[in-house]
Amino acid sequence: MLEPRCTAALLFLVALWSSALVAESAIGVNWGAVSFHRLKPSTVVDLLKDNKIQKVKIFDADPDVLTALMGSRIQVMVGIPNEMLAVMSSSTDISDLWVRQNVSRYMVKGGVDIRYVAVGNEPFLASYSGQFQSLVMPALLNLQQSLAKANLAGYVKLVVPCNADAYESSLPSQGAFRPELTQIMTQLVSFLNSNGSPFVVNIYPFLSLYGNSDFPQDYAFFEGTSHSVTDGPNVYTNAFDGNFDTLVAALTKLGYGQMPIVIGEIGWPSDGAIGANLTAARVFNQGLINHALSNKGTPLRPGIPPMDIFLFSLLDEGAKSVLPGNFERHWGIFSFDGQAKYALNLGLGNKLLKNAKNVQYLPSRWCIANPSSNMNTVANHIQIACSIADCTTLNYGGSCNEIGAKGNVSYAFNSYYQLKMQDERSCDFDGLGMVTFRDPSVGDCRFLVGVTDKTSASSSRYHGYHWWVKVLFFIIQGICSFVF
Ligand SMILES: *[C@@H]1O[C@H](CO)[C@@H](O)[C@H](O)[C@H]1NC(C)=O
Ligand SMILES: *[C@@H]1O[C@H](CO)[C@@H](O)[C@H](O)[C@H]1NC(C)=O
Ligand SMILES: *[C@@H]1O[C@H](CO)[C@@H](O)[C@H](O)[C@H]1NC(C)=O
Repeated sequence: MLEPRCTAALLFLVALWSSALVAESAIGVNWGAVSFHRLKPSTVVDLLKDNKIQKVKIFDADPDVLTALMGSRIQVMVGIPNEMLAVMSSSTDISDLWVRQNVSRYMVKGGVDIRYVAVGNEPFLASYSGQFQSLVMPALLNLQQSLAKANLAGYVKLVVPCNADAYESSLPSQGAFRPELTQIMTQLVSFLNSNGSPFVVNIYPFLSLYGNSDFPQDYAFFEGTSHSVTDGPNVYTNAFDGNFDTLVAALTKLGYGQMPIVIGEIGWPSDGAIGANLTAARVFNQGLINHALSNKGTPLRPGIPPMDIFLFSLLDEGAKSVLPGNFERHWGIFSFDGQAKYALNLGLGNKLLKNAKNVQYLPSRWCIANPSSNMNTVANHIQIACSIADCTTLNYGGSCNEIGAKGNVSYAFNSYYQLKMQDERSCDFDGLGMVTFRDPSVGDCRFLVGVTDKTSASSSRYHGYHWWVKVLFFIIQGICSFVF
């Protein structure tokens, strides 16, 4: 029999623990694959596991990716691209087939733990001018009945990741959805609510800063600010809380002020623009994680942080469109080849990020400008190379902006050469290029070597001895030094 005081203390601890369980938000990542050099999906899954990342969001339902996730027990959000919303909304036969092929098939013992299906990706984005707007509800309804038919409706939740441009206000407490979205949002949140789904929103303080030179720099971060926003009794010291509460207010106006919120994308790029650098990315992401894990919540939701937060992004994606800006290819907490860019504690158990293991690199060689040739005719080559390969770090604000004219040429040549999987002919450039075995990287400017997702026969399987080989070695060494 326990002493009463002891029992009380225990009960208190249990209560504390379970309340922490309810309010705690979990950190996950977005895994996009718009890259010229894709890591093998199994390498990425190992990277997730090594970093104890339990939740991942992908933008489609790539069978190679889902197969690699089988048996991992990682919780997955799969996605249906906007371009597929029209067919999904047109027929239940098509939505049934999608669910069978891309969800049910994996929901078996030792399969994939699919928890969410994202129906569209930011379909209400203002710049889409409403083209997907009327498709979202019909697609949701078709897919919901398909999930029900597959007996998965209670477990797999449909969500619609929205960009934060769906709502607006100068003060958080006045938040409201854009007037032209009121009707669709009313239907959407009612649907989400009746199925126990959260509202998923993508929030980007970086874009606020990038798009508006008047935006106070320190308000984007989580380190205190000289530009706090006072909203009645509430004071906001960072853009994230202000944005989050604007959404809470908008949901409250529709009668769903308690709806759980998941952050579908949030992050900071490390290259390709002024304000996008390693330090800023680390400080923002660490600030965000610490803020979420503190369980402080926001003024309108004290003590209730977002349900889940999916960092954008896991890896750099060098083939993404640069329409939004050159930074678009540099959102990863890891570079394209799974190497940690900076020190980050995800709050999941490791103090630092762990790099990807067993990455299949191409051979260590680079294509550079031939020092002895005349570069007068090179402009055309650079333009073509950089229109195909990624040269975004060369621009103003980029990590390779200051490597000089010849450096620029070499960088462009090399990017193209690696994209062409080091095909010899791709380093010709009318005799202006040459292959080198010495790494031309300078300072923070990294000249990449490509990776391949094909299993190459020459790759060595073991990079070190098994631990027991080492132990045995030391024992034998010990005996030997004792005997001799
Ligand atoms: C399943 O998802 C993949 C990847 O997104 C897609 O290409 C395929 O068309 C989907 N299957 C069906 C039946 O729609
Ligand atoms: C990095 O970006 C931050 C803001 O995003 C800026 O204040 C800082 O000056 C930048 N650092 C460098 C070295 O450019
Ligand atoms: C290198 O290229 C970048 C991007 O086009 C440009 O901003 C920079 O001025 C170039 N450097 C030299 C020395 O030409």
